[in-house]
Amino acid sequence: MSVTVLVGSQWGDEGKGKVVDILSERYNIVVRYQGGANAGHTIKIKDKQFIFHLIPSGILHENVTCVIGNGVVVDPRALLDEIELLQQNGYDIEGRLLISQNAHLIMPYHKLLDSISESGENKIGTTGRGIGPCYIDKYARKGIKIIDLLDKDELAKKIRQNLKEKNNLLKNVYHREELDVEKIIEEYSAFDKAIDPYVADVPNFLNRSINEGKSILMEGAQGALLDVDHGTYPYVTSSNPTSGGACTGTGIPPTKITDVFGIVKAYTTRVGLGPFPTELTDETGERLREIGAEFGATTGRPRRCGWFDAFLVKYSATINGISKAAITKLDVLSEFDEIKVCVGYELNGKKLNTFPSTASILEKVTPVYETLPGWKQDISKARSYDELPPETKDYLKFISEKAGFEISIVSVGPRRSETIILDN
Ligand code: IMP
Repeated sequence: MSVTVLVGSQWGDEGKGKVVDILSERYNIVVRYQGGANAGHTIKIKDKQFIFHLIPSGILHENVTCVIGNGVVVDPRALLDEIELLQQNGYDIEGRLLISQNAHLIMPYHKLLDSISESGENKIGTTGRGIGPCYIDKYARKGIKIIDLLDKDELAKKIRQNLKEKNNLLKNVYHREELDVEKIIEEYSAFDKAIDPYVADVPNFLNRSINEGKSILMEGAQGALLDVDHGTYPYVTSSNPTSGGACTGTGIPPTKITDVFGIVKAYTTRVGLGPFPTELTDETGERLREIGAEFGATTGRPRRCGWFDAFLVKYSATINGISKAAITKLDVLSEFDEIKVCVGYELNGKKLNTFPSTASILEKVTPVYETLPGWKQDISKARSYDELPPETKDYLKFISEKAGFEISIVSVGPRRSETIILDN
């Protein structure tokens, strides 16, 4: 029996979708614990590509039950679109998808307020999916939950209360048109029948399942450096993608967690604004973006690209407690003559001993690099560690030692089959 937390160890987009899809075979249940439709988990099976924004990536395995935990903020429209997509592709999800009654709902005013905030001076480059404003309402105790969809009177009452305040803000502060209360009530009241079959008491289900000996994979969205507490604040998302968030976002207690699996991209990317010490704004960065198809799965925005930052991943491995890691997109580095790895930072000519997550400091650091030889050959056909060229093995050994994790999976291409499983 294992209860594993899977986390993105950088700024998101590490390739969690593919790894969850592969690991799902070993688990009975996969549960998402935070974030919302800002995430985009891509899975490629043969020539078919799926991008999930809300439903856990384990859903493509028929024996796996997928759960959306209370820590997730749910856009009901986006959720129903994903359910429909799965049904159209012949996936039977009846009884295999559970949604926590306590998950909060993304409302139309959350998306609007997100876009208004992004048009001002405090822009941070959000995905525009209403994530921040929804978590604001949750913590201000004004949120509307999944359970509220099942009581029409209560739902209408809460929407009216919220709209009074939001419309006041829209009209008098932002000088925008007010939102139509009745239209929103009508739209959200219509979600009850569609969502009702999936609503569940998730903490009860998960803890009962653990007691029955079932194994659970808790799937984080985004990455550790986007964590509202441990990331590069304020250039972060509004939840806790780090492993700690898995407990509060699901109702599984810390004492039940058996291991933490880190997803580590073989280089670094970031979307949105914020410091990025190893960013390459030159031709090399452009090549990484092109070869790695580094464009946002949710917004299509080009991702900023740079060399692997072992100093940053070491910090991430520490705060997440990463015990094992999957290295993803290693094949993207195959063309390069030389590959650089950041092993530390300097600030005002002095070497830093610890990673500064404070954005204003991180903006000023100079990365210290070590250069490794490239392998200059196609590695996407390798199916075992021994089949990898010596330079590739050296690169893997170097980054795992510098960042302090043990490698258990290596991904050499986007397809399920393009994977090396190390037997540890
Ligand atoms: P929000 O989560 O939409 O509020 O965006 C806040 C920050 O997190 C922005 O820099 C986004 O680009 C980033 N972000 C949110 N979701 C993802 C993701 O799934 N991958 C990578 N970055 C993300």
